[in-house]
Amino acid sequence: MEVFFLFLILKVLLLFWVTPLRVRHRLQKNGFGGPSPRFPLGNIEEMKKKQEGVTPLEFADSIISHDIHSNVFPYFARWQKAHGKVFVYWLGTEPFLYVADPEFLKRMSTGVLGKSWGKPNVFKHDRQPMFGKGLVMVEGDEWVRHRHVITPAFSPANLKVMADLMMEPATKMLDKWTLMVNSGNPEIDFEREITTTAGEIIARTSFGLSNQNGREVFEKLRDMQITLFNSNRYVGVPFSKFMSPKQTLKAKKLGEEIDELLLSIISARKESILSGSPPQRDLLGLLLEGSLSDGRKGKSLTTKELVDECKTFFFGGHETTALALTWTLLLLALHPDWQEQLREEIQEVVGDKTLDYPMLSALRKMGWVMNEALRLYSPAPNAQRQAREDIRVDDLVIPNGTNMWIDVVAMHHDPALWGEDVNEFRPERFKDDINGGCKHKMGFLPFGFGGRMCVGRNLTTMEYKVVLTLILTRFSFSLSPAYRHSPSILLSLRPRHGLPLIIHPL
Ligand code: HEM
Ligand SMILES: *[C@@H]1O[C@H](CO)[C@@H](O)[C@H](O)[C@H]1NC(C)=O
Ligand SMILES: *[C@@H]1O[C@H](CO)[C@@H](O)[C@H](O)[C@H]1NC(C)=O
Repeated sequence: MEVFFLFLILKVLLLFWVTPLRVRHRLQKNGFGGPSPRFPLGNIEEMKKKQEGVTPLEFADSIISHDIHSNVFPYFARWQKAHGKVFVYWLGTEPFLYVADPEFLKRMSTGVLGKSWGKPNVFKHDRQPMFGKGLVMVEGDEWVRHRHVITPAFSPANLKVMADLMMEPATKMLDKWTLMVNSGNPEIDFEREITTTAGEIIARTSFGLSNQNGREVFEKLRDMQITLFNSNRYVGVPFSKFMSPKQTLKAKKLGEEIDELLLSIISARKESILSGSPPQRDLLGLLLEGSLSDGRKGKSLTTKELVDECKTFFFGGHETTALALTWTLLLLALHPDWQEQLREEIQEVVGDKTLDYPMLSALRKMGWVMNEALRLYSPAPNAQRQAREDIRVDDLVIPNGTNMWIDVVAMHHDPALWGEDVNEFRPERFKDDINGGCKHKMGFLPFGFGGRMCVGRNLTTMEYKVVLTLILTRFSFSLSPAYRHSPSILLSLRPRHGLPLIIHPL
């Protein structure tokens, strides 16, 4: 017995202390600097510390600053000053290579295929209830198969059909606003409103909401989102999972219930397809159709995998889109001239006709505004990778197993890449350049990079344009005096106190 415990202790020490030390040595030998870690929390203590000397984002005369990096990532901003744009820090006993230099990113990623990258094991564990083995998480040949089956579901022909699924939830939201204004309350929390609506839109476009099971899945997915958000766990610290057992349990239970409901939706769908009914034109329908018509092994997804993809679309797709719209409405509230310009464009392109798919690409200025909002307030503040082999960057080696944290917020706010007006809202920088005049083509990464770039980006662009068009045609809006500018990281980049707006029907 004692021998067993001794063995266990040795094993734990080896895993969480000796191995990380060895890795640290290797990284140092390769010339990667960074803040000194302390066992067992690594640099987490310093990251959690209240930060001093951070510039405020809001001034007395209610001028709002978009210079957010040192505010949302004070520790990265500080470490950048001391160690440059590429360095190593530690989450618990896991080393992370921090990258805020697009040229390094380019060199690091050329020659590494999408399938050769991993996603950090530490996060995978943490987000298991949300993404399961969905596309966001799978690696290697598995990822190739998933991506191969999923990509065609997002083809323009399919997106066109999904555009119609978006109108109804958005219109419902706007009708509610009209009622609110009529009853004397012109103030809405836009973030909350749009997150609910975007959740409903993604549920409709992913697995349908037309029956009771669909509704229930949607409610439970939202519940799970809230449960996971409220838990403030120490990612990467050994055994941290046991530090919030209640949430962990609740998420697990919700996860099982969701799986069961989705399984029943999928088997019902399968039966109805096999009995000759036309499949539903949502993502699940398209994936099922592909799976059933091309049932060769290695070309389709299993039922369990389909369940995980539905969850992945929900968690990967609704909050990000809602936040893109939220930050856009903040920016448009601060720049009423751009509200007007977009309304004029809508008038030209849509006029009195009903909005349809081909019109969306003609909304060019709206496209610039979207890019500029994604630049200044990138809902996905970072991209992550884990090396699954030694990766050579010039004469440096990134050891197999090293996690990578690509600081998208830092790159989007770097004056060396964008010029002195980097923190100004200037959508026209995207007029003739899809990279917005960034000096490096990997400096603008709202949807990630390489083969693992966001598969939903065209769906999101469509949703963004549909919803924003409907809003701008019916309402103008300004910032409520209650707004407090405090962008913060809770997985995504969110306004900590929501986005209260005063709306005026047009
Ligand atoms: C504004 C909205 C969105 C943003 C900012 C966003 C951002 C991202 C980012 C940064 C990644 C990681 C890319 C990388 O690691 O290089 C990603 C991956 C992914 N996104 Fe999105 N996304 C958005 C909307 C959506 C939507 C609507 C869906 C689905 C319906 C979706 C599904 C996915 C999936 C499945 C992946 C994993 C792709 C892979 O690993 O092959 N996303 N997204
Ligand atoms: C990288 O490390 C993992 C885990 O230690 C190991 O299983 C894998 O074989 C390594 N890959 C290469 C290419 O050495
Ligand atoms: C999105 O649309 C563009 C242009 O239509 C296309 O080139 C691209 O492959 C699409 N991306 C995805 C992920 O479907």
